[in-house]
Amino acid sequence: MIEELKKKFKEDLQKVRDKKSLEDLRVRYLGRHGELNKILSGLKELSEEERARVGLVVNEFKNEIGGLMKTAENKLKEAVKNFSKEWLDVTAPGLKLPRGHLHPRTIVLRKVEEIFQSLGFSVVEGPEMETDYYNFEALNVPKDHPARDMQDTFYITDELLMRTQTSPNQVRYMEKHNPPLRTIVPGRCFRRDATDASHEFQFYQVEGLMVDKHISVGNFKAVISEFFKRFFGQEVKTRLRPSYFPFTEPSFELDIQCLICGGNGCAVCKKTGWLEVVPGGMVHPKVFKSAGYSPYEWQGYAFGMGLDRMVMMKYKINDIRLLNFGDLRFLKQF
Ligand code: DAH
Repeated sequence: MIEELKKKFKEDLQKVRDKKSLEDLRVRYLGRHGELNKILSGLKELSEEERARVGLVVNEFKNEIGGLMKTAENKLKEAVKNFSKEWLDVTAPGLKLPRGHLHPRTIVLRKVEEIFQSLGFSVVEGPEMETDYYNFEALNVPKDHPARDMQDTFYITDELLMRTQTSPNQVRYMEKHNPPLRTIVPGRCFRRDATDASHEFQFYQVEGLMVDKHISVGNFKAVISEFFKRFFGQEVKTRLRPSYFPFTEPSFELDIQCLICGGNGCAVCKKTGWLEVVPGGMVHPKVFKSAGYSPYEWQGYAFGMGLDRMVMMKYKINDIRLLNFGDLRFLKQF
């Protein structure tokens, strides 16, 4: 009879799914009117010897049941715990994901583009891998020209190279568009330069080009001065110095008065009061010819702004390499 009861109990235990059914089971077997007490209350009808024997068996059974119930209870608790781990509260406020932001170079480039667009310039891009023709030849830099020394780069083949400047897009753009035109071409350039605080083998330029019937040096100076005024949000003094580039004639360096010391001379401007910021000049007749324009009909100016330099000036960064390292301690400051 005890054996049958054991079997029955085990079956019942299998069916237990929650706390309530476990408690019901306990009452049914161990409760005051439970199965075990029923047996125990029948003991008085037995002989003393039998009473002792049955009592022993019933007690063992009672302990066994107690143990099994305890195990079942622990299992239930564990299940509830796991369930609450998985539980999804659709009304709970969402987790805040950290939000990224633009790289300082991108922030500055967008500003540069915005200003030039507001001055009527279009924004286009050109290929980073260039032909020798567009990068040099079309810009009046033939194979034996000494200006090539300063612009050695990564060659793919004799004719294909990583562009050393954004200037090839002057001719590319003019080939596809009719004058008058105004455009800027931002992009990455490459040179075989040793890396230091102000040089990288990859860097960014923003090429500028304006072509019309009557364009003079005055237009160049006016547009660039206006650009800097808007870029720095304050009046900025500019000056032109003569320079040399094979693809402009005459050629200039455009300087701005040092914003740190107001022109008095400091470490940033190397005590000169001026910062060299934009090389440029009047488009060379040979460049117009490369593009199929008549130099007798059209005039224009071109310039090549160093974008990394602009970023460094805007944010007072003293090492160009920081712009490429991807160090979050640096990048999080913008
Ligand atoms: N591409 C030249 C450089 O990397 C910069 C430059 C100078 C661009 C004069 C121009 C220009 O468009 O007219 O050194």
